[in-house]
Amino acid sequence: MKFEKNILCIGAGYVGGPTMAMIAYKCPQYKVTVVDINPERIAQWNSSTLPIYEPGLDEIVKVTRGKNLFFSTDIEKAIRENEIIFVSVNTPTKSFGAGAGMAADLQYWEKTARQIREHSTSHKIIVEKSTFPVKTAFAMERILTSTHNGIIFDVVSNPEFLAEGTAVKDLENPDRVLIGSRETVSGLKARDELVEIFAKWVPRDRIITSNIWSSELSKLVANAFLAQRVSSINSFTPLCEKSDADIKEVARAVGMDPRVGDKFLNAGIGFGGSCFKKDILSLVYMCRQYGLDEVADYWEAVVKINEYQKERFVLNMLHAMFNTLAGKKVCLFGFAFKANTGDTRESPAIFVARRLLEEKVNLVITDPKALNNAKNDLKGFETGITFIEDPYKAASGCDAIAVVTEWDMYAGLDFEKIYDSMAKPAFIFDGRNILDHKKLYETGFNVFPTGKPALTHF
Ligand SMILES: NC(=O)c1ccc[n+]([C@@H]2O[C@H](COP(=O)([O-])OP(=O)(O)OC[C@H]3O[C@@H](n4cnc5c(N)ncnc54)[C@H](O)[C@@H]3O)[C@@H](O)[C@H]2O)c1
Repeated sequence: MKFEKNILCIGAGYVGGPTMAMIAYKCPQYKVTVVDINPERIAQWNSSTLPIYEPGLDEIVKVTRGKNLFFSTDIEKAIRENEIIFVSVNTPTKSFGAGAGMAADLQYWEKTARQIREHSTSHKIIVEKSTFPVKTAFAMERILTSTHNGIIFDVVSNPEFLAEGTAVKDLENPDRVLIGSRETVSGLKARDELVEIFAKWVPRDRIITSNIWSSELSKLVANAFLAQRVSSINSFTPLCEKSDADIKEVARAVGMDPRVGDKFLNAGIGFGGSCFKKDILSLVYMCRQYGLDEVADYWEAVVKINEYQKERFVLNMLHAMFNTLAGKKVCLFGFAFKANTGDTRESPAIFVARRLLEEKVNLVITDPKALNNAKNDLKGFETGITFIEDPYKAASGCDAIAVVTEWDMYAGLDFEKIYDSMAKPAFIFDGRNILDHKKLYETGFNVFPTGKPALTHF
């Protein structure tokens, strides 16, 4: 069958997989190929157990795979055969050399750019889907054109705004699709090609265009704003706990002002996920490179409050449980960085688990989707940890439960049954404020919500 367009995505991760599945689903006239250097990941995309859990993803992959959606490890062939190439490789925080712990590690996209250059025999549109520091497109253009072989490469930026856990919904009905390009004849033509793809299902007024640097920066700024909101509300939780105010009541009162808005105002244990921290640190690093130290300090504080909130959670547990956790059994309810995903990258649960192990806790970890990732994250710390999927069995015999992920199912559990099976006094630390605290207290628990007065029987 002859397809109208051949689209390639390099990088079959949390972004590449779902975004390309959605394009294939909405545009049966296009052939979409996704490649990766990781053969296991590709094998999983080609199997009945996809490498990532996202509600609704299985269904769209099932109807497109093998028809107009293909997963492969043959990157060179795919580069030759496709004209539009999305780059969706990882851009983690650099762990070595200059900028270690702050700057984005750009080795993966650089290798990709060189590979594209090497195997291209005709015009290509390169789409930056990964989140990059501003001016990455400039470096990419330099690499692509450095052999002067006459092939034209147009680099455009199309940052991804999906949220894990609601990726399919976000891709099907995005708030906005942003496409940034060079304002040259060929740059604008490339931009229009991309607009044409998204316009197959996204209303035109939600497809916005900009210059390429604004587009690159917008993604970093969007993540900085989201993370800042979480840190802003979290920064008031210790004050609430000290002053008998209730952060939920405060958030409701503040959020009803339309200038503030009521979204993303849930206080909790802190943000996780692969993006917020790394993108803010990348922004901070970039600002320092430009000599903008005041701006860098301002945004760095968002990350500092997040670290403080996680440490505070552990210290609250320690103080509440008579200043010693050694030998006690604690169950973590949830390990994913948020509900409806199995992703545990930068999950607060990793920090909490490690800190509790330092306090010589016997840890039990339960999560409906993230136990395999949890086992990987805690490799080397296995002594003293048990992984149990059933929350009732996991909590049995424990001194305390710590709610780390806001899975809906936790609010619906039979906590009387759980209380009866636990050691006494039984504690519950609700790091997500999703449980009925009064009811838990009446059941017999000593309850420690986040940003609300504790309810204790002593
Ligand atoms: N995860 C999210 O929610 C999210 C949302 C928006 C944007 N982003 C951004 O998208 C990018 C990708 O994120 P992700 O979560 O999908 O990462 P990921 O780690 O899940 O996936 C990246 C994939 O790229 C592959 N890869 C790396 N180098 C390669 C190469 N040279 N050739 C082929 N494949 C290669 C890796 O093997 C991996 O499978 C990052 O820049 C991230 O900041 C992520």
